[in-house]
Amino acid sequence: MKLEDYSGAEAFQVEKRSMFAAEWLPLCAEGQLAQPGDFVSASVGGWSVFGVRDGEGVLRILRNACRHQNMPVVNTPSGHCESFRCRFHGWTYDLQGRFLSAPPPVAPKDPGSPDLHLASLATALTAGIAFFRLGPPAAAAPDLGAPLPAYGGTLTTEIACNWKVCVEHLLAEHVLSSDFTWHWPLLTVRRAGTLAIVEQVVPHTFLRTRLFTHVFGAVADDHRQAADTIKHVCEGLQVDRAAGALAADDGALTADFHRRLGEVYAGGGETT
Ligand code: FES
Repeated sequence: MKLEDYSGAEAFQVEKRSMFAAEWLPLCAEGQLAQPGDFVSASVGGWSVFGVRDGEGVLRILRNACRHQNMPVVNTPSGHCESFRCRFHGWTYDLQGRFLSAPPPVAPKDPGSPDLHLASLATALTAGIAFFRLGPPAAAAPDLGAPLPAYGGTLTTEIACNWKVCVEHLLAEHVLSSDFTWHWPLLTVRRAGTLAIVEQVVPHTFLRTRLFTHVFGAVADDHRQAADTIKHVCEGLQVDRAAGALAADDGALTADFHRRLGEVYAGGGETT
């Protein structure tokens, strides 16, 4: 790993094209989309997507790109709605992403064309976490092991760091066991008795990361201080990386993380 991999846009673009475009990526906990019309949106590894619970109760994940001029249809991180109206020119979609209507001046020639629907992505629901995949869903969906306890809520933490700093911190001092699992590239599960904490890293940009802490078996607010500590530590580590102090391969998981990243960079990334 090089200093620029933590602080430059170029590495992020390679990661976007060759890794995030190809892997199953977590978007949110199913519990965040409890009711029809609930939605969560994010830029995950540079890919703008949103998840929504449709009117029939099905959780869908869609590309957040309007079919009119490719602008984002959803512009808030989460919320509830009956339909999605693009703020740019008013194209409207239902909760399944199907085109509904558009103002006459910008109406499409063939309003019945399926090409007007928002692009639907392969979706997998595993142990209460919703995953999506941009490429063909050939690879097996993630397996999070034993069922998790009842969902207790999600904490959101915005961290001024490169996403890899956050993953390195979450992996540090852990080894794979029945109590700790890592799901390349963005998710860890830590179990302790009747409690399970799922840490989900959302790479927004090369210097901006969102951390979802999904709490199972307890009330989420009880873990606010721990999430704040992760933010504090990661922002300090980002300063260290910018000063040239890179993470050592001092654990099997960290070494494996760096090895796999090395393969990504060596491949250079093919556009998907
Ligand atoms: S870009 Fe969405 S309506 Fe024009």
